[in-house]
Amino acid sequence: ARKIIIDTDPGIDDAMAIFFAFQAKELDVLGLTTTFGNVPVELATQNAITLTEIAKVEVPVAQGVALPSVIEPRPHPDFVHGKDGFGNINWPAPKGKAVKESAAQFIIDTVRQYPGEVTIIALGPLGNLAAALKLDPEVAELVDEVILMGGTAIEYGNVSPVAEANIMNDPHAADVVFTAPWQVTMIGLDVTHQVLLDNNVLGRIKAANPEEGGFLYDCAQHYINFYSSRFGVHGCYFHDASTIAYAMDPSIFGVELGAVRVACEGIGIGQTIFAPQGMDFPEPHWNDVPMTQVCMEVDSEKLLKLFETTLS
Ligand code: BDR
Ligand code: CA
Repeated sequence: ARKIIIDTDPGIDDAMAIFFAFQAKELDVLGLTTTFGNVPVELATQNAITLTEIAKVEVPVAQGVALPSVIEPRPHPDFVHGKDGFGNINWPAPKGKAVKESAAQFIIDTVRQYPGEVTIIALGPLGNLAAALKLDPEVAELVDEVILMGGTAIEYGNVSPVAEANIMNDPHAADVVFTAPWQVTMIGLDVTHQVLLDNNVLGRIKAANPEEGGFLYDCAQHYINFYSSRFGVHGCYFHDASTIAYAMDPSIFGVELGAVRVACEGIGIGQTIFAPQGMDFPEPHWNDVPMTQVCMEVDSEKLLKLFETTLS
């Protein structure tokens, strides 16, 4: 199975992604690392531990960064994920504890333990990945792939006309990640806004798998209400869990290659600027930037089917 570390800010769609990964026999989850984002980092850590306890899997959880690298923190989006990150369902605190290592150190140690074999799946702001690169730049060459949910190439943003939330929360860290010498695959709003998860699918998963499915169904109601009121859709867009599907079966997606850089100030802050391969821009910002695989197409039916069957 493919060895993965999930870097996360749970988060309702993070919870969907994590249960999806735990159930996928194609994947071997070596650990969860946490970041601020949907909630403060201490709560993200608690929530990650809660998810391991519900799923009854023993996977280490390592706590990561509490703040953006450079900018002032933005408010946590209670109106999307609830104050508890799980749609205000009053779930009890977990029993377990995080490991002593930081998220960045956990990433480094795990990647060095299995050189060339570990894929990092990032579902939140990218401070832990940037911190790992700073502590040990060689890890970039030792990672199999970084699959991240964030950004947008041509679709509108969700926190500004051009910016997606995970990138906006730490644009400097994101720019470090997109320009480092590792294979990055970006799963942004270009594809996640093409897939709508609704209560029919969630209800069937709940019936087949009451524990995890029931938890996801209850959390998702707050999230679905937000999407209905903001976008007028009956369901929620499929962000974080898309990365897990990509790790299991990349053929569900269509990718384009190009350089990605992140705007770090001004009204375009948080924008992921996509320069398709072959367009040789003379501006220095675009020299020697590694090629990111940017997902632009998705087979929505196949993706939702994989999610449902894996979790059922
Ligand atoms: C991303 O932002 C967070 O709210 C979600 O968990 C997802 O990672 C979507 O823009
Ligand atoms: Ca997330």
